[in-house]
Amino acid sequence: MVPADIAASAASLRKLLEYHNHRYYVLDAPQISDAEYDRLFRELQDLESRYPELIMPNSPTQRVGGEIVATFEPVNHRSPMLSLNNAFSEAEVVAFDKRIREQLNLPQIEYAVEPKFDGLAVNLVYENGQFVSGATRGDGYVGEDVTANLRTLPALPMMLASDCPPARIEVRGEVLMLKRDFAALNAAQRAKGGKEFANPRNAAAGSLRQLNPQVTATRRLYFFAYAVGLSEGWASPTTQAEAMAQLADWYFPLAAERQVVEGVEGLLAYYRRIAEIRDELPFDIDGVVYKVNELDLQRLLGFVSRAPRFALAHKFPAQEATTQLIDIEVQVGRTGALTPVARLAPVPVGGVIVTYATLHNEDEIRRKDIKIGDWVNVRRAGDVIPEVVSVAVMKRPATVRDFVMPSVCPVCSAHIERLPGEAVARCTGGLFCAAQRKQALLHFSSRKAMNIDGLGEKLIDQLVDAELVHNPADLYRLDFQDLIALERMAEKSANNLLTAIHHSKQTSFARFIYALGIRHVGEQTAKDLARHLGTLANLLAADEQILQTVPEVGTVVAKSLLHFFAERHNLDVINKLTEAGVSWPAVTLPAANSTSPIQGKVFVITGTLPTLSREEAKAEIEAAGGKVAGSVSKKTDFVLAGTDPGSKFTKAQTMGIIILQEAQFMELLSGYQGE
Ligand code: IVH
Repeated sequence: MVPADIAASAASLRKLLEYHNHRYYVLDAPQISDAEYDRLFRELQDLESRYPELIMPNSPTQRVGGEIVATFEPVNHRSPMLSLNNAFSEAEVVAFDKRIREQLNLPQIEYAVEPKFDGLAVNLVYENGQFVSGATRGDGYVGEDVTANLRTLPALPMMLASDCPPARIEVRGEVLMLKRDFAALNAAQRAKGGKEFANPRNAAAGSLRQLNPQVTATRRLYFFAYAVGLSEGWASPTTQAEAMAQLADWYFPLAAERQVVEGVEGLLAYYRRIAEIRDELPFDIDGVVYKVNELDLQRLLGFVSRAPRFALAHKFPAQEATTQLIDIEVQVGRTGALTPVARLAPVPVGGVIVTYATLHNEDEIRRKDIKIGDWVNVRRAGDVIPEVVSVAVMKRPATVRDFVMPSVCPVCSAHIERLPGEAVARCTGGLFCAAQRKQALLHFSSRKAMNIDGLGEKLIDQLVDAELVHNPADLYRLDFQDLIALERMAEKSANNLLTAIHHSKQTSFARFIYALGIRHVGEQTAKDLARHLGTLANLLAADEQILQTVPEVGTVVAKSLLHFFAERHNLDVINKLTEAGVSWPAVTLPAANSTSPIQGKVFVITGTLPTLSREEAKAEIEAAGGKVAGSVSKKTDFVLAGTDPGSKFTKAQTMGIIILQEAQFMELLSGYQGE
């Protein structure tokens, strides 16, 4: 036998825990710390382990989930769980209100209105204030017994907060998953390679219908009450709104957005207000529900077939639709990120016609098993870009084909790289790619890069749109006439900008490297590269091994540098910049490089060098481990050019081969001869 005082302590602890549970999960206004809650919880656990007779299914300690079941038992609903008539237009709402007024012979009707939750309906039974069972809606007459799973819902009261609860009462409402819990669940599923859910409703349904309640317990399901079913021994209030207020007093979660409104104007204003805030709500809704507020009037109106005459669901345009994926195109973003985009057979979603939807990245396409030609489910929420959520595999045509990520950029033809550990493929055409132009220029002229005062986003937009500037090197070719022709450009600002551009030519090697906007090369890395490699020629010639001798440069940075310099367009821009006169004071190297930067490199010499003869230059190259070839080919690493260069020079330019002046060549050699 449990001593009376122990039983009383246990009962009061349960009550207290329910109270704080409600403060925390429903009102989002905890009154005690988590530690204090845990202390009370353990106190109850202690009592229950000392007196196991105290353990009851509704104890807060039992929410972690009970026994696994083989199937869900069928449950006959004592009163059927009806569906609602739907309206998709204001005209239908006007007709609904008119019918009711005529039937009741009343000039104006008061309505209780609330969101239409996009989850799954359940019926909960409380006897003498205790939760005894809960079932899904099923076909409205027979549902499934999910009592054990419902006990794990932290927001669902296991006992009514009342000293004189009804003998029996049915509470109806919707089980759903909050958007943030849905996002977290899918992220976790993704991390462990599990199946992701298409939307919060599917996630809620899948979680509530788990045979193992302990799984349900981990899913953080939520609940909103919206109606009272049969009741016994309850002094029922006279309105829907009061009934809801009673449920709130008993600790049931209710939508804060519920309201009482007058007449059809009130209904439509409410619909518009909720449509407006829909995306900010922490849960998905698919419309609003209107109910005649007076319960007596509800009874008078009664039912027609399977739906009440006193209520109406005014639905928002569906946010999901199925359509055919015609093709997958690849878009290049401002940062060079490649996004596969689905071109769709036009389909209305959420009130607009959708023709494109994002597929995020290559991995997502594989994971969702999306193929070109598939029937896909497309979702659009608010202003966000529509996305392909899943494939209707059953409808898959035999002609589908796989998507292959292109190996070159669809905009600039530069190579596409996908660095290890990254989901996103990128265009390496940084300085050249039209898609990245504005971003590259903005970065190039920024304060910590070339520091071109006055060259901001708006001006860059104008310059690029007017086709005056395609890449950073073009900035150095701008003249007064070009600038003054731009809209809102005064003489003074044009001159100021030209001066700023001119000044920026005198820079530092570190700033120059940083200005190139190479992925993973921030300000500090640029400084390190400048200090340790000393010259542009060294930087261009460095292989992965040499790059990794620079502090903080690992494989990722090294690969990114190599990719960048492997693009001939990028080298072309670099050449043009130095040709335009961008220069910097020589960097003193901290210690000589032990390896020759030109070891194994192939040179071609053209034109007359200012001081060295061709023979002398050749000797220098060979002494440092390089080779000299007679003509420019794919194997050429450097062209050493003097005055009046021949066709080799132009060929090198078109092939994007690094062109060195004699002075740069000497710098390159001195980089390792300093030992
Ligand atoms: S009242 C007699 N209110 O809509 C009226 N239903 O088509 C009973 N639903 O399966 C329903 N939000 O799950 C009502 N605020 C709300 C609702 C709501 C969602 C669902 C409910 C039912 C369906 C009816």
